[in-house]
Amino acid sequence: MNFLVTGGAGFIGSAVCRHLCANPAYRVTNLDKLTYAGNLASLRPIENAHNYRFEQADICDERAVLEILRRDDIDIVMNLAAESHVDRSIDGPGAFIETNIVGTYRILNAALEYWRGLSDERKAGFRFHHVSTDEVFGDLPFDGGMFVEETPYAPSSPYSASKAASDHLVRAWHETYGLPVVLSNCSNNYGPYHFPEKLIPLVILNALDEKPLPVYGAGANVRDWLFVEDHARALELVATRGRPGESYNVGGNSERTNLGVVEAICDLLDLRRPRAGGKRHRELIAFVTDRPGHDRRYAIDASKIARDLGWAPREDFDSGLARTVDWYLDNKWWWGPIREQRYDGARLGRATARPVENAQVENALVGNAPIGNAPIGDARTERSPAENAAESRKVTT
Ligand code: NAD
Ligand code: TYD
Repeated sequence: MNFLVTGGAGFIGSAVCRHLCANPAYRVTNLDKLTYAGNLASLRPIENAHNYRFEQADICDERAVLEILRRDDIDIVMNLAAESHVDRSIDGPGAFIETNIVGTYRILNAALEYWRGLSDERKAGFRFHHVSTDEVFGDLPFDGGMFVEETPYAPSSPYSASKAASDHLVRAWHETYGLPVVLSNCSNNYGPYHFPEKLIPLVILNALDEKPLPVYGAGANVRDWLFVEDHARALELVATRGRPGESYNVGGNSERTNLGVVEAICDLLDLRRPRAGGKRHRELIAFVTDRPGHDRRYAIDASKIARDLGWAPREDFDSGLARTVDWYLDNKWWWGPIREQRYDGARLGRATARPVENAQVENALVGNAPIGNAPIGDARTERSPAENAAESRKVTT
């Protein structure tokens, strides 16, 4: 079986490539543009594997994608290529519109043209698997509710809105043109090779550097955390055994407040890498201005994928977090160059800037330069730290 994994140099895509390549019956082509988030070092464990190859390309380049589909006789496309960081989408939505929406449109076109040229038997086996997020469902209250596959889409951020748009396009290509698609919507992932702009790796590395650990608002917001290797196994099942036209919610059943996550990392580091003078890592926690449009809570009901495809996570949050902290302690060769050359941990996404076009965003990302100056904060969803604290008292996790 021949897979095309897009975004395979990213956090989840590289876990998918490493997972799939362990099966000698699979061949994997990794197509990645290598943006700031792409890193070939994450593929080091498989870079010389006989069943793995890398191709630098953009999913917006329909011709290039079509050529690769034909050259490598692809049976299954797994589309993970995306701009993925909410805070960056606040500073510069342009790249999110370009890759997540236009890019998905272009790769769908390429896949459709390729699929139409296949024999009837190969047509029936072909799958286009679009990898999406629970953030398309929007904001849940603190005190109840879970996302099911039928939950209406209500995205809050430029990131989640662009992913919602891409999900709609994928479904439309199934309904209108008959392309055999499957979708999955997953909760927050964490684990090794996670780019240190996201909460968990950022906090681990800032703590090791004795820098402040930024907690947005009062840290009361809740995410449902899943270890990335459990997600990779779920994605293989959805891609190979999912029913065309269907979507599957994937989650870890591990809801935690952000403050709870940060404190758990601090406590692990106190044991593994104690600070000088008996100081505790929790002393580094700094409550900072909240993210605009910050969704309060995400929670996934993953019973469909459990029932239909027999998937269950193997890692719980405590064991997965301990593995993750240990991995960062042991693998400075991977994250050291990123912190020095690509992203030093500076605050992103305060919405103090006007949305800007792609070229400006790229420039600003590389240099961490401030972008624009006109405020565009969303007053509706901004909460003061006091309001957040009041909300946090309702949290039961
Ligand atoms: P990531 O930012 O770590 O990696 C994205 C990868 O896509 C990078 O390697 C980048 O170079 C590549 N890329 C970006 N634009 C491209 C383009 N135009 N053409 C080709 N390659 C391009 O992201 P991730 O966290 O690994 O997420 C992967 C997918 O999973 C995304 O679609 C994301 O929406 C989804 N997802 C992520 C999470 C999470 O917690 N991280 C949860 C659920 C779903
Ligand atoms: P993040 O890792 O960016 O994932 P997402 O926004 O996709 O959920 O953030 C996870 C949660 O942590 C989210 O509620 C925002 C919060 N957060 C902080 O409190 N401080 C930080 O420095 C970052 C990056 C995130």
